[in-house]
Amino acid sequence: MLGIARTGIRFTLASVARGNGLRQLCSGGSGSYKNILVEKKGDKSQVGFVRLNRPKALNSLCDDLLRELNVAFREFDADPSVKAIVLTGSSKAFAAGADIKEMQPKTYSTVFGTNFINDWTEMLRIRKPIIAAVNGYALGGGCELAMMCDIIYAGDSAKFAQPEIRLGTIPGAGGTQRLPRAVGKSKAMEMCLTGDMITAKEAESAGLVSKVVPADKLEAAALDLAERISRMSLMAIYAAKESINAAYEAPLSQGLLLERRLFHASFGRATALRRNVSLH
Ligand code: CAA
Repeated sequence: MLGIARTGIRFTLASVARGNGLRQLCSGGSGSYKNILVEKKGDKSQVGFVRLNRPKALNSLCDDLLRELNVAFREFDADPSVKAIVLTGSSKAFAAGADIKEMQPKTYSTVFGTNFINDWTEMLRIRKPIIAAVNGYALGGGCELAMMCDIIYAGDSAKFAQPEIRLGTIPGAGGTQRLPRAVGKSKAMEMCLTGDMITAKEAESAGLVSKVVPADKLEAAALDLAERISRMSLMAIYAAKESINAAYEAPLSQGLLLERRLFHASFGRATALRRNVSLH
């Protein structure tokens, strides 16, 4: 048992690896997925559905899982029949963070030399919207993974935290950057400096998640949202996501200019389609 959140600082990176005996190692290999389940859902199979599937390790995010996740996202992004993606975990854990057991033996020169965590950001290149459906724990890298998605829905028993400080470190996959943008400086500081968990309702009122539903209705709610998005024009979906993301990267004037240009483009396309003009 790790249990940092309930009982305070009970372990270090080293003690976790020793004490838990590395009982579930990350599965490696290529070919079919070993750490995720992937399918298409929805009436017209327009929703790519990915479930993190390392139940014994509470979906902690090992290197192989991240590799598989990136492949699955890329395939859905390239699949013309898919227009939105749902990412979820189990009822107990969306993801309990980076895989502490896998991380523990890494040295500074390894993490620096391999630019550890960098491949997590590949999902930011996915153009289709990704909805995180979070039940249970979204801790550390799990919370950061959810924040790299475009929309977060939470089950009413979900818990969010950045507990890395209790391991003597800080978030490494965007927690110190995306959390303040979502919940403001004070709450982000409090979360990152204490590792305390917040509930789904607190996450909703702070702006981290856009909707809280009963835990057993979460997947249906996320799928319903993905299907509603899937009924929109793919070009408009791309444009909206790209433009909103620019709000986090660009000065207001450049963001507004990008929005205007994407508006012109999508407006022009919609008008042409209404007039039945061939766009080819
Ligand atoms: N990495 C690896 N294994 C983990 C894990 C993690 N992050 N979280 C849980 N597990 C494993 C446990 O070792 C245990 O495995 P064994 O049965 O082999 O011992 C199994 O999952 C079940 O865990 P618990 O027995 O601890 O379950 P619990 O219900 O008592 O407690 C919990 C649940 C509160 C989530 C607790 O497991 C916990 O605190 N986990 C660690 C959370 C954490 O610190 N996350 C941050 C990781 S660092 C990070 O993410 C860095 C970054 O920014 C990228």
